[in-house]
Amino acid sequence: MANIVILGTQWGDEGKGKIVDLLTPAFGAVARYQGGHNAGHTVYLNGRKVVLHVIPSGILHPGTLCLIGNGVVIDPRAFLDELEALKSVVPVGEDSIAVSRTAHLILPYHGLLERAAEAALGEKKIGTTCRGIGPAYEDKIGRRGIRAGDLCDPALLREKIFRNTAAKNEIAALWGLEPLDPEKLFAQYADYGARMAPYIKDVSRLLHETLRAGTPVLFEGAQGVLLDIDHGTYPYVTSSNPTAGGVCTGLGVGPTVIDAVLGVIKAYTTRVGSGPFPTELFDETGKLLARRGDEFGATTGRPRRCGWFDAVAAAYACRINGISRVIMTKPDVLDEFPEIKICTAYRYKGSSLRDYPVETEVLEKVVPVYETVPGWKTPVRGVREFRDLPAGFKDFLKLVEDRIGAEAAMISTGVERRETLFRDDLLAGWIDLAAVRKGIAGA
Ligand code: IMP
Repeated sequence: MANIVILGTQWGDEGKGKIVDLLTPAFGAVARYQGGHNAGHTVYLNGRKVVLHVIPSGILHPGTLCLIGNGVVIDPRAFLDELEALKSVVPVGEDSIAVSRTAHLILPYHGLLERAAEAALGEKKIGTTCRGIGPAYEDKIGRRGIRAGDLCDPALLREKIFRNTAAKNEIAALWGLEPLDPEKLFAQYADYGARMAPYIKDVSRLLHETLRAGTPVLFEGAQGVLLDIDHGTYPYVTSSNPTAGGVCTGLGVGPTVIDAVLGVIKAYTTRVGSGPFPTELFDETGKLLARRGDEFGATTGRPRRCGWFDAVAAAYACRINGISRVIMTKPDVLDEFPEIKICTAYRYKGSSLRDYPVETEVLEKVVPVYETVPGWKTPVRGVREFRDLPAGFKDFLKLVEDRIGAEAAMISTGVERRETLFRDDLLAGWIDLAAVRKGIAGA
């Protein structure tokens, strides 16, 4: 079977967590390649809600190897807390999780400085999760970062923490912030190091061994394409590459191991934080989407901005990631709507744009052009077979597929694993659906 990337095609929160969890039985390993504990992947296990932040969403299946690549930034405390919380839900052994030795660490000064920088931006703030993600990536690119492997070498860790804290305290003084005590930081991180040591490994090599054994791997993206540092709505983006290219740099594998990329699309659009959002709704319809879709951030609890499905943006996401098959989530949220809109073009300065403009300043000014379909007014929630879906929903789906240039291979009709519908012909050769169905039956 194939090695597949699953990534979000919008601004994150497409429902990737459920999809990755559900498909895991068909894969031997699940590997995260970017982001950090800014992500919030929600998975329901027998009615119990589990929110994963940095640990791959395959972890609820014992026996699956969960890899955290060098492209991820790790807050050791968040990692250890998440691990502890998970242990009350599923057995998690030292062999279940590996963190790359070369993944960069988040330290307390990253969050402190980020909060000050965001506050200083006022109305222009990015609206980050303030988890220190961006500043940790800044240090990585600035070649002064501290990596997970350093946790296992106390003398080196001490030297790096002292050097970096001195530099950060100078910046903190400019912001009027209290200095951090490097001795305390070192003691804290040395303790984290002792607890994390069994998990810190050469992830690229582990991945190669897994692939060489012929075990299929699922590559799990966090956030979404439109939050990509290179291809998203810069500067209102995260600081990593959720796009498929991030798999190679973020895990140490060549592009030739990736057989296919599956994009997750939510049946409408949401965004957390600042930045352009052409189809955003400020009226009762937007509020209804938020309410029916329970659109509150899984990491920060912030209300998500809501709007209609944007096919122009999703088509762009499919193009730059080589996506020909998508997975639609949350169409059940639209069940009650009398009519449903899909943005299929933008108007900008009197002309019609069918292609997504990469300039944020243009995107801020476009006006969405909608095609409207009647609502299906029948529940798609819990429907298990494609043929049983309401005709109105199938028309909506067809329009989405036409406009984004990709076919829907799966549809999620509720939060539980079993509330999922597969088009087997579109996944044949990619995913062992018998294994997936067995996993669902056994849940
Ligand atoms: P950062 O990733 O914390 O630097 O935040 C940068 C932008 O990405 C902000 O708009 C965040 O709201 C957004 N963001 C980060 N992680 C997620 C996520 O998992 N889902 C949705 N938005 C996210």
